[in-house]
Amino acid sequence: MSSSDNQQEKRLEAILNSAVDAIIAIRKDGIIEAANPAATRLFQYNPDEFIGRNVKFLMPGPHRTNHDGYLKSYVETGRRKIIGIGRDVEGLRKDGSVFPMHLSVGEFEVDGEQYFTGIIHDLSERKAAENALQQAQKMDALGQLTGGIAHDFNNLLTVITGNLELLDMHLGDGSHKELLDEALEATDLGARLTHGLLAFARRSSLDPETIDANEVAIGLTDMLQRTLGPTINLSSVLGSDLWSTKVDRAQLESGLVNLAINARDAMPKGGKLVIETRNAVVDADQQDVDLRPKRGEYVQLSVTDTGHGMTPEALQRALEPFFTTKEVGRGTGLGLSMVLGFAQQSGGHLTIYSEMGVGTTVNMYLPRQPEDGQQPALSTTPEVKKTGNGETILVVEDDLKVRKLTISRLERLGYRVHAAIDGEQARKMLDITPGIDLVFTDLVMPGEFSGYDVAQYVQQHYPEIKMLLTSGYAEELTRSDKLQANQLKLLRKPYRLQELAAAVAEAMT
Ligand SMILES: Nc1ncnc2c1ncn2[C@@H]1O[C@H](COP(=O)(O)OP(=O)(O)O)[C@@H](O)[C@H]1O
Ligand SMILES: [Mg+2]
Repeated sequence: MSSSDNQQEKRLEAILNSAVDAIIAIRKDGIIEAANPAATRLFQYNPDEFIGRNVKFLMPGPHRTNHDGYLKSYVETGRRKIIGIGRDVEGLRKDGSVFPMHLSVGEFEVDGEQYFTGIIHDLSERKAAENALQQAQKMDALGQLTGGIAHDFNNLLTVITGNLELLDMHLGDGSHKELLDEALEATDLGARLTHGLLAFARRSSLDPETIDANEVAIGLTDMLQRTLGPTINLSSVLGSDLWSTKVDRAQLESGLVNLAINARDAMPKGGKLVIETRNAVVDADQQDVDLRPKRGEYVQLSVTDTGHGMTPEALQRALEPFFTTKEVGRGTGLGLSMVLGFAQQSGGHLTIYSEMGVGTTVNMYLPRQPEDGQQPALSTTPEVKKTGNGETILVVEDDLKVRKLTISRLERLGYRVHAAIDGEQARKMLDITPGIDLVFTDLVMPGEFSGYDVAQYVQQHYPEIKMLLTSGYAEELTRSDKLQANQLKLLRKPYRLQELAAAVAEAMT
């Protein structure tokens, strides 16, 4: 080979190695001949697990079984389903998760042998962003619509109520008084409905004042205990040195009552309800997961129950006005949308964590009110020290985005990271992966094995491996006994990088 050939080959290799998109070359029988680093990274394999295998193992379900057919039919008939064109399909990662991708396939011949080159572009992030945008637009449109109707309807109601009251005065204690009273009661209900809609549409007339959320929580306790009844064990965990916030007191109270009533409804046989307050700082690092509030400083009010939790579908739609899973007459579907509208109109936000069969935590974030004369020190993301030194952590987390974020955060902190998508896979990985120092697991995941089961497995079979649990659900508030009995630590989501670093370092000792 001449040196210029050599040069050219090096250059070609550099091009392949540096490509951001995955590139995979296969023979006409589907066997992988070559793949660039982006490809093995995307599918989470080592290069030696890639070459020489049939490309089918990168495809989920139906495509896998049809793939030989596609290739054969093309090779025989020249009919193109995908070759020379491109399309959106799905890929299967090593950890079993399926992701959307764009695949374009070209073909070439060397020495009479036919080959195909696939270029794969990961669409996960784009699809997720599209979905989030769609959901946001839907909520916006709903807000505009309901806000408009509620406004007009409110005016009609005002006229009706006013005239009924005048009539009431004219009639005195006459025989038709009962009819009038019923009509007035109905307008009252109507007014409450429009009030809820206006709150969702962020068109309430708010009357903000400086509020100590602890004081509000304490003030509501008696009334809530009476409303909730004796089967609900109500308690509160109030943050010390809690910041002030500036919001409408009546709306905040009615928001908390709404959340408490939802919690009660989720616990028909009774259970625990915990109201929690704390200072919360959201930094840039946290924003890409979930619908986090903008970065800044907040007073966080959370309501946690030990109820039945929400299905993923219910969770997805819970904030929409009129979405309810309750029977007619019991739920209007306006509770959460009102609280969301209130929080947003106040410059804050609302998030929900729910675990089926375990319980639900709803977090209200209300912006911190700076002390007199003091500018809010908008938290810059602090420098985080590397706490790791090559120790190995197995991350067990079912949510793709959270898993990716956790992996990259832990790597940034100096740890080596393996990942599993559920408890079952975690157990398998524990059995075959040497040198794991710590298992960092989500508490509730689909499948048979929860975070507790993983912890139990580790304690039984690998007692030298340390454990750290995480959950967005406030488990430590409702089941601290279970955590303590097993000497387990729990890191509450959402957490900042610093908090992760501290919790992992502590668990490692
Ligand atoms: N704490 C909770 N636990 C379980 N599911 C809940 C909880 N809070 C809300 N939900 C679900 O969200 C839905 C919407 O709640 P909401 O807007 O308050 O309306 P409503 O209570 O009238 O149904 C409920 O019907 C229920 O399915
Ligand atoms: Mg409700």
